[in-house]
Amino acid sequence: MRSVILPVAGKGTRLLPLTKVTPKELLPVFDKPVLQYAIDEAIAAGAERLVVVSHRMKPAIADYFNEDTKAVAALRRKESHDLADRLEQAGADRRIEVRLVYQDEALGLGHAILCGADHVLDGPVGVVLPDDVILGRGMALVEMAEAYRGGNMVAGMEVAAADVSKYGIFDLQGPVASGQSAPAAGMVEKPAPEVAPSRMAAIGRYILSPDIFDVLRAIPRGAGGEYQLTDAISRMIGQTDLSVFRFTGSRFDCGHHAGLLAASNARCAERAALPDARIVAA
Ligand code: UTP
Repeated sequence: MRSVILPVAGKGTRLLPLTKVTPKELLPVFDKPVLQYAIDEAIAAGAERLVVVSHRMKPAIADYFNEDTKAVAALRRKESHDLADRLEQAGADRRIEVRLVYQDEALGLGHAILCGADHVLDGPVGVVLPDDVILGRGMALVEMAEAYRGGNMVAGMEVAAADVSKYGIFDLQGPVASGQSAPAAGMVEKPAPEVAPSRMAAIGRYILSPDIFDVLRAIPRGAGGEYQLTDAISRMIGQTDLSVFRFTGSRFDCGHHAGLLAASNARCAERAALPDARIVAA
């Protein structure tokens, strides 16, 4: 997996008015913007190139990747090396190539991924949905990249029976242990609890076979009139293996207010446990 697509072109409607000016991907989770968690995870998983699919109405996303060498130098002159380091680490490591592409209209996640098609390197492609922030010892995409053996792999998390109707749910042979992958026969979008094939829900991390782009070009609009990535993955079953990977971390849905706050609290607790806890104490 040499490339990771970060789709950030969505409208962030559920977070209005927070997202009236600031893209939801740049809202804070304690000490870093939501997007930075996705960038760090993609790079840790081995990405050589990040393909950021943004929207022209969100210019702050492009700005976030610009180096601010003047501000860094000014901080260093004032001996504020800690702040200078933090500013330098914003965006991506300079050794990683960042391609910014635009989705002119938010026509769904499947369409956003397709916008990145001409910019990815050979081989399987990673996708991280930044608003699914996953905290914990293991980074989900790193765990997935280690377990990946081909086909399409989607991150999974066990949810309460009452919540299955909010997610894409995997059709599985049996339980999946934490930190392990398992083959899936398919996925059912937002099933009623009584007909759900399992309680394993799809979460925003994917490692996709490069064939996905041809399928995305061919699928019609699905639920909500949008081009759905899950429709393309489902259509490939039979030719391309589907597996679910049950990640070990805790996932926070930062597409709504309570999820953002919960992620900040969890990150604050994580940071407080580290030796350099002065950032929290301050
Ligand atoms: P969401 O559906 O959660 O994002 O997509 P949204 O549309 O911004 O949210 P609401 O419902 O309006 O509040 C998950 C991720 O996929 C991106 C979003 O930016 C987000 O990071 N996305 C979604 C796109 O890039 N393009 C799309 O057409 C849809």
